[in-house]
Amino acid sequence: MGNVVVVGTQWGDEGKGKVVDLLASSADIVVRFQGGNNAGHTLVVNGEKTICHLIPSGILHEDKKCLIGNGVVVDPAVLLEEMNDLEKRGISVTPERLSLSEKAHIVMPYHKAIDLAREAAKGSGKLGTTGRGIGPCYEDKVARIGIRAVDLLEPDTLEAKIRTNLKEKNFYLEKFLKAEPLEFQPIYEKYSSMAEILAPFIADVSQEIDQAIKVGKTILFEGAQGTHLDVDHGTYPFVTSSNPISGTVCAGAGVGPDKLHHVVGIVKAYTTRVGAGPFPTELLDETGDYIQERGAEFGATTGRRRRCGWLDLVVVRDSVRLNGLTSLSITKLDVLTGLERVKVCVGYELDGRRIESRPASLKKLARCKPLYEDLPGWKEDISSAKAVKDLPPQARNYLKVIEERTAVPFSLVSVGPGREETIKLKDPFETS
Ligand code: GDP
Ligand code: IMO
Ligand code: MG
Repeated sequence: MGNVVVVGTQWGDEGKGKVVDLLASSADIVVRFQGGNNAGHTLVVNGEKTICHLIPSGILHEDKKCLIGNGVVVDPAVLLEEMNDLEKRGISVTPERLSLSEKAHIVMPYHKAIDLAREAAKGSGKLGTTGRGIGPCYEDKVARIGIRAVDLLEPDTLEAKIRTNLKEKNFYLEKFLKAEPLEFQPIYEKYSSMAEILAPFIADVSQEIDQAIKVGKTILFEGAQGTHLDVDHGTYPFVTSSNPISGTVCAGAGVGPDKLHHVVGIVKAYTTRVGAGPFPTELLDETGDYIQERGAEFGATTGRRRRCGWLDLVVVRDSVRLNGLTSLSITKLDVLTGLERVKVCVGYELDGRRIESRPASLKKLARCKPLYEDLPGWKEDISSAKAVKDLPPQARNYLKVIEERTAVPFSLVSVGPGREETIKLKDPFETS
C-alpha cells in the first residue's frame, strides 16, 4: 500500500471530488494541500449531493480523518458553514475527524474586497476569478504579512496584524480601487469568535501525517483546481494563485517526496473552463451546448455556466509530464453519449508547424489550431456499465485513443455522478 495524490489535468472541475470520495474508502486520511474555497468538489452518494469547498472529500466516510494542509488558504466563515451544513445532515465534524494546519493562511474580508474590486476595475479584461479572495490571500502569504491559523489563537497577534494590514489595504481599496474601506472592530470581533470555535481543530498537520505514515496508515492527497490553472504552468495570467500540481503536496502538506507513490490524473472526457482565458478546443456551437446541458456544466462554487469543448490531449499530455501521472481516471464519459462524432485534439498547428505541447505565449496559443482525430460516437446509455467490455465499441475506441496518445493506463472510468457509476480498473493504493 502506498500514498496517492489526485490532481486535475485540465482547467478544474474534472470530477476530482467524486474520485477522491471513491478512493477514500481505501485510505485512512484525506488531505487538501492547496487552493481554497475557490474549489467546489461534488460528491453524490445514494443520490444525495454534497459540495466540499474546503473540507476534504473524504468527510462522508465516518472512519476517515480529514486534514487541511498549510498550503490551503482558509476562509474560516466558509469552513464553519461547511461544518454546520454537514452537522445538520448528521455528519459530525469533530477535531477527531478534521484538523486545520496551524500554518494555513487565513482569508480576510479585505482579500475578498480587493479580489472583487480589482475584477470590477478590469471590466471586460477581467480574469473571471471566483471572487473568494484567494489571489490576494496568497499575495499576502508571499509578502510575509499574512495571518495564519496559529495567529487566531493569539488575540494580541491577531489584533496587531489586522490593524497593520488594514492601513495598507484600506489605502489601496479607497485610493486606487475606489472601493469602500473596511473597519477594524467588526473584523476583529468576527474573527475572534470564529477562532474560539476553530481552536480545537488547529494542529500540526505535517506531524500528524508523519505519525500516521509511521504506523502504516495510507494517505490520499486531494488536489484542487487543475494543472492548466497552475500559477507557473497554466495559461498565465488566466490561472489561479496556487500550484495545483502533484509536487505541491510536499510544500502544501509538509511531507517528503519519498512518501508519494502514485499520482492519479483526473481527465474529463471533454474539456471545460470557467472564467476567462484561452481554450483552443472550445465549442461555440450546438455541440458545445449539448455537452454543457448533458453534463450540467455549471460551476459548483459560483454557479457560472462552464465553457465546453472537445478533449484536448495536448493539455492532458502536458499534465502527464508536470504531475508525473501514473494513472488516469476518465470522468463523464456518459455525457458524450448521443453525439454522431466525437473529436479529440491530438496536437496543435502553429504557423504551419505541428507542436505537441502548449506554448507559454498567449499570442502564440491564440494562433494554434487544434489537430483533431475524428471518431465515431455512440448512442447507448452507458451509465450502468461496470466493465469496459460493457461499453459500446465506439466508446471503447475513444478510451483506447486516449490511452495510446497519453501512454498512461487508466485506473477508473466514471460513467455517472454517483459513487457506484464507476468502472474500476485498478486500485491505485494496491498497485503502488
Ligand atoms: P471537481 O471540482 O473536480 O471535484 O469537479 P466538480 O464537482 O466541480 O464538477 C464535476 C461535476 O460532474 C459534478 O457535478 C459531479 O457530480 C459530476 N460528475 C462526476 N463524474 C461524473 C460522471 O462520470 N458523469 C456525470 N454525468 N457526472 C459526473
Ligand atoms: P475545482 O477545485 C474551475 C478558476 C476561476 C478563474 C481562475 C482564477 O472545483 O476544480 P481564483 O478565484 O482562483 O483566483 O480564480 O481560476 N478556478 C476554477 N475553475 N474549478 C476550480 O476549482 C477553480 N478554482 C479557480 O474560475 O478562472
Ligand atoms: Mg469544481
